[in-house]
Amino acid sequence: MSDVLELVDVSVVRDGRALVDDVSWSVKEGERWVILGPNGAGKTTLLNLASSYLFPSTGTATILGEQLGGVGTDVFELRPRIGMAGVAMADKLPKRQTVLQTVLTAAYGMTATWHENYEAVDEERARAFLDRLGMTEYLDRKFGTLSEGERKRTLIARAMMTDPELLLLDEPAAGLDLGGREDLVRRLGRLARDPFAPSMIMVTHHVEEIAPGFTHVLMIRQGKILAAGPMETELSSRNLSLCFGLPLIVENTGDRYTAHGLPLS
Ligand SMILES: Nc1ncnc2c1ncn2[C@@H]1O[C@H](COP(=O)(O)OP(=O)(O)OP(=O)(O)O)[C@@H](O)[C@H]1O
Ligand SMILES: [Mg+2]
Repeated sequence: MSDVLELVDVSVVRDGRALVDDVSWSVKEGERWVILGPNGAGKTTLLNLASSYLFPSTGTATILGEQLGGVGTDVFELRPRIGMAGVAMADKLPKRQTVLQTVLTAAYGMTATWHENYEAVDEERARAFLDRLGMTEYLDRKFGTLSEGERKRTLIARAMMTDPELLLLDEPAAGLDLGGREDLVRRLGRLARDPFAPSMIMVTHHVEEIAPGFTHVLMIRQGKILAAGPMETELSSRNLSLCFGLPLIVENTGDRYTAHGLPLS
């Protein structure tokens, strides 16, 4: 299987500090990765590398066969091949656009505004993705008036619009209530198990948000990789405790996970 993402000895240095510190990591086609780590660990920085919006300070990053900064690599050709849904994106989108417009404009550049002559075929695709995410009743609502959960689902539909080969999700379930989280996990699980869906990398803070169908986990702490590999072996109490710096127990409950600290003795 070919590499969707390959980082070799990658560091990202800002103000003399390594936000990502000598990371080597490869994601193969069809894999679905979860990134776990404490606040400030470097998770979003990793996604920014994977989305080609951030270049390594040292080391090499190759995305979908294109090396960042390499001869012949044009990031403007690369970017439509990558779908990204994250908090930073939500802030850049015009609040007065409708949900349908918000998704549709993804086909025409990152935050382009509405114009009238979209292709019918694109509108059909936008409607289909929104339907898949349970947003059919919100097509004409202004993006700025959506709840957190509705906004997240719209952003995922938007990220799918360019038919990406790699889908990046930064904390898609953050801010959702229990019902909203379970609904999203179910939808992401369906996507993760779809063999025609893109390769996926999802950042999350909670193992409860890992949908069935996700295959691999990467744990990062202070910019350094602590563990990276198949979920069954790497999502262990030992690794999670090292990652978050306190004793934790992770349990596999069928096809989902849950984690908690040790009771006070
Ligand atoms: N442009 C920058 N200049 C300096 N420091 C930065 C810059 N961008 C991010 N950082 C710092 O790098 C570290 C990693 O940030 P990052 O956003 O990747 O963390 P994260 O793991 O996504 O955290 P969270 O869980 O809080 O979202 C943080 O300490 C952050 O303050
Ligand atoms: Mg982050």
